[in-house]
Amino acid sequence: MSDPRTLRVDLGERSYDIRIGTGLLARAGEEIAPLLKRPRVAVVTDENVAALHLDALREGLAAAGIEMVALTLPAGEATKSWLHFTRTVEWLLEQKVERRDVVVAFGGGVIGDLAGFAAAVLRRGVRFVQIPTSLLAQVDSSVGGKTGINVAAGKNLVGAFHQPSLVLADIDVLGTLTPRDFLAGYGEVVKYGLLGDEAFFDWLEEMGPKLASGDVEARTAAVTRACEMKAEIVARDETEQGDRALLNLGHTFCHALEAATGYSDRLYHGEGVAVGCALAFELSSRLGLCAQEAPSRVRAHLRDMGMKVDLADIPGDLPDAEGLLALMAQDKKVVDGQLRFILARGIGQAFVTADVPRETVFKLLDDAMLARR
Ligand code: GLY
Repeated sequence: MSDPRTLRVDLGERSYDIRIGTGLLARAGEEIAPLLKRPRVAVVTDENVAALHLDALREGLAAAGIEMVALTLPAGEATKSWLHFTRTVEWLLEQKVERRDVVVAFGGGVIGDLAGFAAAVLRRGVRFVQIPTSLLAQVDSSVGGKTGINVAAGKNLVGAFHQPSLVLADIDVLGTLTPRDFLAGYGEVVKYGLLGDEAFFDWLEEMGPKLASGDVEARTAAVTRACEMKAEIVARDETEQGDRALLNLGHTFCHALEAATGYSDRLYHGEGVAVGCALAFELSSRLGLCAQEAPSRVRAHLRDMGMKVDLADIPGDLPDAEGLLALMAQDKKVVDGQLRFILARGIGQAFVTADVPRETVFKLLDDAMLARR
């Protein structure tokens, strides 16, 4: 166990630390203790994480004299619902969680979003700590305060910006992820290189296989760089009035593909992000914004990592290009009826624009669908 690295998310009186390293569950108590007015926390987790890691968290908290109560929810995207949100809020009230107490979100993106939203509304807002257990949550969803649930009209359509008071990213817990879950999170890691740091993308091209095979130092370095970039963007644009939208590189395509596959295990979110990034670079190249070499390099790296790259890699039926475009039009990023895209002038040079001819997007998707046949 080495000393964790500390990053700061600079948001005035809502600033907080991200601690990244190994053995953080064992020292969770000493990390969280300075936030507590009394030695007790309410933990929200899921069945998979609870089976693997809840005892370690309980011991880590107990080592600092902190008592823990836990609510264990079913694992999976379906948990981000009104039903489980209500259940969580009611449970926190039953546990007599008070305004000065702290809720702990212990899990991947689903638990972080749900428990964070519950904390945002409980007694008009209690503090919460994120202990992300998936790679996707460590590099993206646990940082930045986006919380919420899915509703019938779409994903993440109900929620709040509610910043955590601390994020503890324990690299050891990534060791229990399935290879598919790890690679889905890796899609979000690659996104950071593509949107704003070509040197990081170069490094990932070299180090990606080591990351996938479990190299703890490489994993720590990758999570640290991704969180540094996220912290910097969130500090600049907390509520996504501008630059924060860069973090949605690949997501307009991804959300349409997730809707088309029914948010099922046909396509994990991070896989959709990877396919979406490849499409966003291809679109950028067709619009003459970047050289064809850029999308080729993106695709080659994703392929080398054994990831999904093309629509052809998604099993089962998909709507045609027209149907996919219709799903894209439901994206949260639609402003005044115009779809906004994150495009790139090269690797590491993304920007936000609404200026994309519908025909070019249609042709891109139509070609991608033809390649499936
Ligand atoms: N996951 C994108 C964001 O936090 O803005």
